[in-house]
Amino acid sequence: MPVVDIHTHIYPPTFVELLRSRTTVPYVRTFPDAPDSSRLIILPGEDDPSTPSTSRGRPIGPEYYDIAQKISFMDKHKIDISVISLANPWLDFLPSNEAEEAAKRINDDVDGLCAKYPGRLYAFGTLPLSAPMETVVKEIERLARLKHMRGVIMGTSGLGNGLDDPALDPIYAALEKHEQLIFLHPHYGLPASVYGPRANEYGHVLPLALGFPLETTIAVTRMLLSGVWERFKKLNVLLAHSGGTLPFLAGRIESCIKHDGHLKKEGKIEERRDVWDILKTNIYLDAVIYSEVGLKAAMDASGSDRLLFGTDHPFFPPLEADAKEWHSVNANYSAISTTFKDHETAAKDVLGNNAIRILKLHP
Ligand code: URA
Ligand code: ZN
Repeated sequence: MPVVDIHTHIYPPTFVELLRSRTTVPYVRTFPDAPDSSRLIILPGEDDPSTPSTSRGRPIGPEYYDIAQKISFMDKHKIDISVISLANPWLDFLPSNEAEEAAKRINDDVDGLCAKYPGRLYAFGTLPLSAPMETVVKEIERLARLKHMRGVIMGTSGLGNGLDDPALDPIYAALEKHEQLIFLHPHYGLPASVYGPRANEYGHVLPLALGFPLETTIAVTRMLLSGVWERFKKLNVLLAHSGGTLPFLAGRIESCIKHDGHLKKEGKIEERRDVWDILKTNIYLDAVIYSEVGLKAAMDASGSDRLLFGTDHPFFPPLEADAKEWHSVNANYSAISTTFKDHETAAKDVLGNNAIRILKLHP
C-alpha cells in the first residue's frame, strides 16, 4: 500500500542563498549571541526587536534544503512518495523584474531534485506572481511540460489583492486548461493586533494554530463569494490543513449567504454553486489536522476520496533531541487510522491512493 505525502516542503539551496542575501523578512541569518546557528525568519512580524534573537523564527538546518534528508525522513516514516513544494513565502516578496528568473530557476531546481529519486518525488511549482501576467501564464505552461510537476503552490495574496481578484482570471484559466491543481497554503496569518500585546510570550502558537487556518478559510470563502468556481468550473484547489476551518464553518457560510439582503438584491444568490457542491467537486483537503475530530469534519465535507495524507515536513520537528519519530507525523497517521478504523479501503485512499489518482503519480 503506497503512502504519499502531498504536504511537504523544501527551500532548494538557491532559494536559501537568496534568503541569506536579504536583511528584511524573509531572510536567513545568524545572530551575534549564537553565531553557529542560522535562523529562518519568514513570518510577518517574526523579527520584532522585542523578541530575543535566539527565539526569532526557527533554527534552519539541512532538513530544510537537503533533499537527501527529505528521503531519509520519508524512509523513517514509511512514506513512499512525496510531492514537494517550496515553503512560504514562495516568491511573493520579489520585485517584479526578479520574479521570472527566480521562478524558472527554482522550478528547474525542484524538478531536478525529483529526477534524482525516480518514482519517489514529484512537486508543485511556484509562480512568479509579481511579474507581468503573460510571464506568469508562460510559467504555468512551462510547468505543465516539466516531468515531475503536478500543480502549483500558492499563498493567499494572489497579485496583492487576494484570490477573489478578477485580475487573476488568466491564471485560473491557464491552470484549469492545463489541469494543474492549486495547492493553497497560508503564510500571512491575521493582523498582529488580534494576537494581543502579550503575543510574543506565546511563541508561534497563535499565528500557526489559528492565524494560518483562518487565513485559508477567509481566502477560499472570498474565492467562492466572487464566483471563481462559477467562471472556472474545473479549477481544482487542494487546501492546506484540511481547509483551515472551512469544513466546520461551511454551513454557517451558506446560511450567511442565503440571508444576505445585498447579495439577493444583486441577484447573486440564485445562480450560484453552493459551498457543499464546491467542497465535493473542486476542493481537495489535506489530512494535516492532527486529530480525529478535525479529520472527520474534513471527510464529511469533501468525502474520503478527496482527502490526502501530509506531514508539513520540515516544520514541526520534535523538540527532544533524541526523538526517533516525529510526533506531528504520527498524530496525522493516527487520526487516519482511528477515523477509518472500520474502513480499510478509505484509509488506504487517504494515505496514498487518492494522491496517485488525483495527481497522476505513477509509481
Ligand atoms: N510554518 C510555516 O511557516 N510554514 C509551514 O508550512 C508550517 C509552519
Ligand atoms: Zn505547509
